[in-house]
Formats: sequence, C-alpha cells, structure tokens
Amino acid sequence: STGRYQVCCIGAGYVGGPTMAVVAKMCPKIDVTVVDISQRRIDSWNSEEESELPIYEPGLKEAVVNTRGKNLFFSTDIDGAIERANMIFVAVNTPTKKDGLGAGRAADLTYWELAARRIAKIAKSPKIIVEKSTVPIRTAEAISTVLNASGTTKFQILSNPEFLAEGTAVRDLENPDRILIGGNLKDEDGIKAVGELVDIYSHWVPKERIITTNVWSSELSKLVANFFLAQRVSSINAVSALCESSGADVDEVSMAVGMDSRIGSKFLKASVGFGGSCFQKDILNLVYLSESMGLKDIAEYFHWVVRMNDLQKDRFVSRIIHGLFNTVTGKRIAILGFSFKKDTGDTRESAAISVCQRLVDERAHLAIYDPKVYETQIWQDITTASKMDRLELEKLVHISSNPYDAAKGSHALVVCTEWDEFRDLNFEKILSIMEKPAFIFDGRNVLSHEYLRKLGFVVYAIGKPLDPRLNVV
Ligand code: NAD
Ligand code: UDX
Repeated sequence: STGRYQVCCIGAGYVGGPTMAVVAKMCPKIDVTVVDISQRRIDSWNSEEESELPIYEPGLKEAVVNTRGKNLFFSTDIDGAIERANMIFVAVNTPTKKDGLGAGRAADLTYWELAARRIAKIAKSPKIIVEKSTVPIRTAEAISTVLNASGTTKFQILSNPEFLAEGTAVRDLENPDRILIGGNLKDEDGIKAVGELVDIYSHWVPKERIITTNVWSSELSKLVANFFLAQRVSSINAVSALCESSGADVDEVSMAVGMDSRIGSKFLKASVGFGGSCFQKDILNLVYLSESMGLKDIAEYFHWVVRMNDLQKDRFVSRIIHGLFNTVTGKRIAILGFSFKKDTGDTRESAAISVCQRLVDERAHLAIYDPKVYETQIWQDITTASKMDRLELEKLVHISSNPYDAAKGSHALVVCTEWDEFRDLNFEKILSIMEKPAFIFDGRNVLSHEYLRKLGFVVYAIGKPLDPRLNVV
C-alpha cells in the first residue's frame, strides 16, 4: 500500500468519469480509481485522443489528461480497486425497469445490487460506500443489509446524490450549488464516515455549501430536485400552447414571470420537450414510490409532468405535419440536432428521437445532422424507437455530415437541439437549396424568426404568435 487515501468509483459513465476526474484534480494527495465492467469504456477513458473519450463535456479532456496516470486511473480490475479502497463511490446506471414488477416506472437496481454484492465478497477491511447513483428512497438501507449480512466487515453507507447537468458537468462539479451528504448522524461511525466525505469535498467546496441530512432525506431530495426542474419546463411548455392560441409570446411571458425573485428566471425556456437520462426516469420513480405508499393522487400529480412533456412532443410533430399541408409522406425534412441538449453527445430520451420516430411513421424522408452525436448512435436510437427494421429505415433516414447537406432538397428544417452553431448558419444559402415554400420549425426558439420570415421562410416557433402563412389544421 502507498499510504495514500484510496478512492474507488464503480461505474465509469457520465457521472463516474467526470466526477472522479474533478476529485482527482482537486485532491492531488488522493488516489482515484474508476472501474467498470465495460472494457471498451475503460479503454476509451485511457485513450490519448479527446475524440475517443467515451463522453463529450467541455473541459473534461483537460481534467482527465492532467491527472490520468498520476492520481486518476481507469481500470477493469474491479476487485483490486475495491480491496485497496478506503471509500467506494457507486455510480452505476439505475434505469427504469423494463419488465416485471413496476415495469416502466420503478428503478432497476440490478446493477447497484451486483456492485454491492461484489463489494461484500471482496472487501476485507471496513469501507465507506457512497451511493452516487440516483436511487429510490430507502435503497441505502437495503444495500446496507446486503453488505453487512456476512457480519465480518463493517460498511458505512452514505447517500451523496449528484446534481451535475450534462453539457456543463465539469463546471457544475467544480462549482456546485451544494453538496448533499446523507448519513447516519445518530451513530459515531456514521458521523465519522460523513466527516471523511466532507473532507474530500472541502478541498474545493466552501463548507457552507456542504450539507448533511439523514439518508432518506438525501435520497428523496435528489428525486424531488429533478421533479421541480422538470415541472418548470412542463409548466412553461403548457403555457407555450396557450401563447400560440392567444398571440402572446412565451419568451416574454417567461421573462416577466421569471423576474419575480420568488420564481426565478432559470429553467423557463419553452422547448420541444425535455430529454436526458434523468428527468423522466426519476419522476416515474417518484410516481412509483408514491403509488406504493398508497398516495395515488400524489402520484398522479407527479405523473402529469411527464405526460405534459409527451403532449408537447406530439404537439410539435402535429404542427410540422399540418404545416406541410397535412402530409409529410415522401417529403424530405432536415433535422437539426439530435442530442437532448446542446454541448453533449448524449441522446438518452432526446426529444429528437420521438420527433424522428413519429415523422418516419408518416413515411417522411429525414436528413439528420448533429455536431456531436455519432452516426451509429443515431441509427441505434431510431431503430429502437421505430416499428420498422433497419432495412426499411435506411430507405427513409439519412445522416448528414453538415447542416447544408441536410437542408438540400428539404421542405422543412426542424430544430430539435439548441446548438449555438445553428444561429450562425447562412440562411440565404439554405433557402436557395430548399424546396419552396421552405419551412422552419424551431423547437428551441434559437433562431431569428423575423429575419427568417423576411428572407421568405414560413416559420413556426414554440409558444410564439403563429405565422399567418402556416397551415394549422
Ligand atoms: P452510465 O450508463 O453512463 O454509466 C454507468 C456505468 O456503470 C456504465 O459504464 C456501466 O458499464 C457501469 N456498470 C454497471 N454495472 C456495473 C457493475 N456492477 N460494476 C462495474 N460497472 C458497472 O450512467 P450515468 O449517466 O453515469 O448515471 C449513473 C447514475 O447517476 C444513475 O443512477 C443516474 O440516475 C445518476 N445521475 C446521472 C446524471 C447524468 O447527468 N447522467 C446526473 C445525476 C445523476
Ligand atoms: C438534469 C438536472 O438538471 C441535473 O441536476 C441532474 O443531476 C440530472 O438531470 P440534465 O438532464 O443533464 O440534468 O440537463 P438539464 O439541463 O437539466 O436539461 C434537461 C432537459 O430539459 C434538456 O432536454 C433541456 O433541453 C430541457 N430544458 C431545460 C428545457 O427544455 N427548458 C429549460 O428551460 C431547461
């Protein structure tokens, strides 16, 4: 042993990778080993090329390159890392269950439990286990039962949910609003374990931003935070429908409402719908938890945030189909942006997937462009979402390497992601290579709509007064 404090993280994904890169950067005296069952993922974390890192995040490459091989290590030797560790973060995926009890709602804790059982089997000395994954309330307790069942090694379980958002992961990790640590504060060993985790964060997070609670509050707070955030998006999206029918402008309403300091201006941007691996999953988890506690009406209330999001995606696609004179069959449509938000290559639950799937169902021809999402990922998402097989889909879907190729010969441009580069496109050129009338459906309100109308486009924008030239039924 080196005598240095050893941290291990099980799960080298969107959370494990960036979080541990920042811990390593901020704590040069601590050794951090990130392990995963996926050899491919570990190989790409160890790769010299930025483009080969498994995920794209601004600032991530620098954080990894400056610490890798010094005090940050990526490995598939899970057992070795567990054995050496003083503290083990578990950041494995906890997706929505696909089958069985609670299918479509409850969290699938298979990966979590496998990781916990591995720790129980391997660990010979006392360890602190940090629940980093988002889990249902009372998971720590269940895991504690599994871990402490053999009775020989003592484990302390802490809850430490992660609040980073993709696209700003490194910034969020380096400058978090708060660090939440749940632990057994009634027990001496519990207090000591919480203290060790507080010490790690204290390397760079001001003490007043590190808060400690009991384990259940911590677990529940993570789900509730995502509910509140998603709720704001669904609320403003509900308002966007009202705006279109009344002539109000949703951005003006957001501004006016958000300037009330009690409400706040963030997360009030109307859109084609929220995506990402967390919001829907965590809200459904909350729905399931409420139902299992017999709180049916409460569950309904939570559920409406997800339903409103589905309605918003449907509404957007209906606008496209009606706008294009009630048929898109055989028409080429350019899809700009496929990731669930800008500055990430992640497509999990992206609104673009639903939009594409519904348009393909109508037998539209799609030309999809995204600056960061890999072609293989787009194919995988569309094939999974569609009833059609790959061969059929290849007749309808084309992946473009730049926005102009996508626009060429298209009847409509559909903006699904708010990538900055879309604002700076040469729209005169685009208009000249599109079919006429040329339509733009801005699902993110990032383009200059009045300018585009002056050029000659028919423009639909979420929650904005309707273009009189747009067919609406
Ligand atoms: P991910 O799928 O990107 O990464 C999870 C990794 O864990 C995968 O690489 C997988 O191979 C690995 N893994 C699974 N089981 C394993 C095992 N038994 N041993 C070793 N490795 C194993 O997932 P993610 O996006 O990083 O999310 C992880 C958790 O963090 C989830 O619970 C999620 O809800 C939560 N979370 C995610 C975000 C986000 O923005 N993505 C933000 C906050 C919280
Ligand atoms: C979210 C939470 O913000 C983060 O704290 C948690 O840890 C993980 O889940 P993430 O999903 O990465 O993070 O991104 P976020 O910025 O929250 O955006 C989620 C979705 O909502 C995106 O599709 C985004 O485009 C959409 N959104 C967000 C809107 O449509 N309007 C808004 O005003 C804000």
